[in-house]
Amino acid sequence: MTLPTLAIIGTQWGDEGKGKITDYLAEDADLVVRFQGGTNAGHTIGIGDEVFKLHLLPSGILRKGTMAVIGNGVVVDPEELMEEIKAVEDSGRSVSGLRISDRANVIMPYHKTLDRTEERYRGAKGVGTTGRGIGPCYSDKISRYGVRVGDLVDRTALEEKVRMIYPIKRKLIEAFGGVPEHTTEEIIEESANYGSLLGKYVTDTTVLVNDAVKAGKNVLFEGAQGTMLDIDHGTYPYVTSSSCAAGGICTGAGVPPASIRQVIGVVKAYTTRVGSGPFVTELRDELGEHLQKKGGEFGTTTGRARRCGWLDLVVVRHAVRLSGVTSLAITKIDVLNGMKTVKVAKEYEIDGARVKDFPASISMLNTARPIYTEFEGWKDWSREEATRIIRDGYKALPSQMKKYLRFVSSNVGVPIGIVSIGPEREETIDLRKQKWED
Ligand code: IMP
Repeated sequence: MTLPTLAIIGTQWGDEGKGKITDYLAEDADLVVRFQGGTNAGHTIGIGDEVFKLHLLPSGILRKGTMAVIGNGVVVDPEELMEEIKAVEDSGRSVSGLRISDRANVIMPYHKTLDRTEERYRGAKGVGTTGRGIGPCYSDKISRYGVRVGDLVDRTALEEKVRMIYPIKRKLIEAFGGVPEHTTEEIIEESANYGSLLGKYVTDTTVLVNDAVKAGKNVLFEGAQGTMLDIDHGTYPYVTSSSCAAGGICTGAGVPPASIRQVIGVVKAYTTRVGSGPFVTELRDELGEHLQKKGGEFGTTTGRARRCGWLDLVVVRHAVRLSGVTSLAITKIDVLNGMKTVKVAKEYEIDGARVKDFPASISMLNTARPIYTEFEGWKDWSREEATRIIRDGYKALPSQMKKYLRFVSSNVGVPIGIVSIGPEREETIDLRKQKWED
């Protein structure tokens, strides 16, 4: 295994199956570090009969002996975090490996009110946010009105900040047509209470993570969302409010660029997105519905149905370039089993011209037509065949599927390291341990 440091990045609009890949790779990790996002993320992890839905806790929390770090770039909702801690403890596991950055910003109750109120105000032009207060919290961070985790354990600092900012937030909520849901005193008391519950996990995580990297420990940086939701490089303004590409690791975990050795780009074998915004390969027909049903494409966080479409390599190449992806993890390829043909978009046609690189302009994206390469499909497999594939690995995959995989890899210019053929840990073909054979 060639850790020491490994990053897992979503190459599409999130929901690529990063949770499963992180969980699989976390087996060898000493530290799993989240560096951006908040409770908008949702990772479903199955361990035997148990199913965990994590939004904020790094996936490593479920591995004994692994330290789970919430970095400074994450926005922390203390209420949700306490609930997740309880769920893990109720399963008989310990959260003693949890560490939370004192520099991380806190999602305050008014951020959640504002998120929902602003979405209503935007109406048809809404981003389709998860309503978890993400955008308003990151806005406050950037405009220097944020409350940080360190403030939760410092009553004086907390009171000062809330008393200064909340009167303005109340006016803002009202200006957007909403109603403030909390009093100043409620916010201070509630936040201070969370501070006393979470205080024991709070530390300077940048020291911890950098010390681990220097000591040659296996450090895994766990991305949330996906590159197309990145605040700078995604389909702005239909994006989240953080840096989901690998660059976010440096600021969001406080580590130097050279400390990131390998970057695994997670690619779902087709494309999905929740919320609004352009989606060039979207299938608004029964094929799209088929993918949605077969792939169980309903949000972990909001339960919303995900829009579905063919794999878009213009998107994946954009993500690979931005994050310096060193290998791909292809997920949910089994969802394509049984299809007559499978398509992949290589380029777009916009105003009669061929376009290879993902454009910034939403209006161009809205008129873009995908140029597809079509592949012969492959049969669905029986339980016995699945068992044989798990046992024999890559060489046992259907030949048409291997052709599809080779095309994706050569078009993107990056080798495939992992192919996931189902939700369970063992349904993972690790090509890093095998040869590519026909
Ligand atoms: P926000 O992050 O709640 O502000 O939502 C902004 C956009 O990002 C919306 O389109 C959300 O649906 C989308 N989004 C945020 N988090 C995730 C995620 O973990 N998976 C997929 N989409 C997400």
